[in-house]
Amino acid sequence: MSITILGIESSCDDTSAAIIRDQYLLSNVINSQEVHREYGGVVPELASRAHQANIIPVVDSALRKAGITMNQIDAIAYTRGPGLLGSLLVGASFAKGAALALGIPLVSVNHLQGHVLSHFIKDELNLSQPIFPFLCLLVSGGHTQLIVVKSPLEMEIVGQTIDDAAGEAFDKCAKIMGLPYPGGPVIDKLAKDGNSNFIAFSKPNIPDLNFSFSGLKTSFLYSLRDRMTEDSSFLNNHLPDLCASLQSTIIEILLSKLKLAVKRYNIKDVAIAGGVSANSGLRSALEQLGAERGWRVYLPQIRYTTDNAAMIAITGYFSFLAGKTTPLDEAPLARLPLP
Ligand code: KG4
Ligand code: ZN
Repeated sequence: MSITILGIESSCDDTSAAIIRDQYLLSNVINSQEVHREYGGVVPELASRAHQANIIPVVDSALRKAGITMNQIDAIAYTRGPGLLGSLLVGASFAKGAALALGIPLVSVNHLQGHVLSHFIKDELNLSQPIFPFLCLLVSGGHTQLIVVKSPLEMEIVGQTIDDAAGEAFDKCAKIMGLPYPGGPVIDKLAKDGNSNFIAFSKPNIPDLNFSFSGLKTSFLYSLRDRMTEDSSFLNNHLPDLCASLQSTIIEILLSKLKLAVKRYNIKDVAIAGGVSANSGLRSALEQLGAERGWRVYLPQIRYTTDNAAMIAITGYFSFLAGKTTPLDEAPLARLPLP
C-alpha cells in the first residue's frame, strides 16, 4: 500500500508545503517571504504574519501540483522545531487542524533531521542516496553541525559551532558590505569573479570537531575598516575579492573539520545539507576533496538545500513508517535537539 504525506514547513521565513508518496516527490511549493529584505534579516513578528497569509494558498498549490485532494493524504508532517516560535506555531496549528478535520495522524518533525534526510527524497534527478552510516555536514543560517547519521531516525552530533553558524557568517559579513539579506547567495555569486587569496582572515583554533565563526566576522570587519580608512573606495573596487576571500576561508574552516571527522569515525560516505550547502565554492571544493581522498560525496540538489517542506515530508514518511505519530497537544519548540 502506498503512503502519501503532506509536509508543512514554517520554521523561519519560508512557508512551504510538499507532497511525498513513498519517498517520491509529487510537489514542493515554497513561498520565500520578501518582507524581510528591507530589514537586513528576518523579523519574527512579520514572519509569523506572512506564514498566516501564505499557508492555505501554499498547501492548496502543493495539492493541485501533486494532482491529489486532501482526502488522499495518509498523514501530515510538520516542523516542530527548532525555529522561531511564532512561525512554528502557524505551521503546527494548521497541521493539527487539518489532521483533526481529516481524522489522520500527525507527525512532528525536527527541522535539522529534515535537512539531513533531504538526500532521501526520490525524484527524476536524485539517483544515488547516501549509505548508512554516513557523515553529514549540516550548514545553515542557524546551525553548523557534523552529524553521524546511523539511520533515518538515529543521528549523533559529533561537532558543532560554539557561536555563529556558517550561514550567519555569510549573512553578517554581507551586511557589513552593505549587501542584501540573505547574503550567502550574493557572496557566492560575487566570489566567482574575485581573488580568494586577496585577504587572509584569521582562522579559529577550536579543539575537536567544533567550529567557530564569530572571530572571522570580527576579523572581516576590522580588515575592511582598516582598508577603508586608507582608501574610501576600497569596498567598491574590491567587492568580488572580499567575497572570494571570505568564502574560501569559511570553506576551509568547514572542510578542515570534515577531514578530521572522516578520519576519526572512519566513515567515507560524506554528505552536506542546509542552505549553505547550495554554495558553489563549497560544493566544488568538497567534490575535489572527495575525489582526492576516495570519499563518496553526496551533494543535495539546490532546491532541497534551503528550507523546504519536501524534507519535512520525507522525514515524516520515515517516522510514520516506524509508527511514530504525534499527539495533538504536543507544542512546537524554538530549541529542539536532534533525535
Ligand atoms: O537552511 P536555510 O534555508 O535556513 C536555516 O535553517 O537556517 O539556510 C539559510 C542560510 C542563510 O544564511 C543563507 O545566506 C545561506 O543559507 N545560503 C547560502 C547560499 N544559499 C543560501 N550561503 C552560501 N552560499 C549560498 N549559495
Ligand atoms: Zn533550515
